Amino acid sequence: MKKIFITGGAGFIGSAFIHQILEESSDIEVINFDALTYAGNPENLKGLDETRHKFVKGDICDKDAVLNALPADAEAVFNFAAESHVDRSITSASEFVTTNVLGTQVLLDAARARNVKRFVHISTDEVMGSLPDESNLYFTELSPLKPNSPYAASKAAAEHFVRAARETFGLDTVITRCGNNYGPRQFPEKLIPLMIANAMNDEALPVYGDGRNVRDWIYVEDHARAIWLAFERGKSGEVYNIGARNEQFNIDVVKAILDLLGKPHSLIKFVADRLGHDRRYAIEAEKSETELGWKPQTDWEDGLRKTIRWYQENQDWVERIRNGAYRDYYKKMYGASLK
Ligand SMILES: NC(=O)c1ccc[n+]([C@@H]2O[C@H](COP(=O)([O-])OP(=O)(O)OC[C@H]3O[C@@H](n4cnc5c(N)ncnc54)[C@H](O)[C@@H]3O)[C@@H](O)[C@H]2O)c1
Repeated sequence: MKKIFITGGAGFIGSAFIHQILEESSDIEVINFDALTYAGNPENLKGLDETRHKFVKGDICDKDAVLNALPADAEAVFNFAAESHVDRSITSASEFVTTNVLGTQVLLDAARARNVKRFVHISTDEVMGSLPDESNLYFTELSPLKPNSPYAASKAAAEHFVRAARETFGLDTVITRCGNNYGPRQFPEKLIPLMIANAMNDEALPVYGDGRNVRDWIYVEDHARAIWLAFERGKSGEVYNIGARNEQFNIDVVKAILDLLGKPHSLIKFVADRLGHDRRYAIEAEKSETELGWKPQTDWEDGLRKTIRWYQENQDWVERIRNGAYRDYYKKMYGASLK
């Protein structure tokens, strides 16, 4: 059995990754190390083969806890754990610096101490800032790091520490930078599940600014597959951009959700824009396609339909979140109470 250590595996992308690799490979054992913050949800781990999945509750900033959980013979560390929501980083950045920067550094040190064979760091296209409206510019792996939000700044800082661990100590590292993910089990503060959950409850759909910000959307399982290939085939020290060539205006995403749910566009409510809101992300993924032999398999319409169906079939999952601390967060963010 190959042992792999995954941080943040109770979150949206980490859990999708674990479901996928345990289904697709029979010789893998996962240690899932997660602090279970507001975004971590043990329900996301239902249905996993428990003989090959060991959950450890712990904080990546806690050096002793990480060293205790990380086996010496681990094939890889996959670092998904992060504070991941831009809006929360605008309200308070310090948790982002702590988990995303310091936590990554703790993991890098632990990986060296335990002779881990490869460190795969999950980063984001947001480290490269924002592209001009309607230009034909794209993010490549050579684009400068120009983060605009505290979240993106913390992810960019983490990337520098990953690079430094390789250049200084020879740790085998790979970084992936993906665009916006969508799919099952995403916490409802993020655009697509927020809109689905509100529309299902006939509540107003808050859209920032003029709704013409562009995001490059990818189905979460396609992202997970790319991360696995980056681990298996990526060159040490390299960065791989991951994107499905699927740019969409936010307002079009929201309208598509309403149409698929059979709800009226009158539910849309434009609200004051997010501070420093990045205008456009667009990813050139040619390097991942050629070097990793990766291609996205889910097209936008199918992916969105599958995602909506998951939220319809898992309304208890959504309601448990909407009835918890998320209610207060929502009120503070949007000045309105959830039903
Ligand atoms: N969601 C996206 O669209 C997207 C796109 C590109 C990259 N990413 C990156 O992918 C990774 C996963 O994103 P996600 O959307 O699944 O995030 P998420 O917020 O859904 O999950 C984060 C997980 O990390 C855990 N965690 C947070 N702080 C921790 C700590 N100190 N110690 C241990 N665990 C901790 C949480 O409990 C949670 O389970 C992040 O690194 C994020 O920056 C996300």
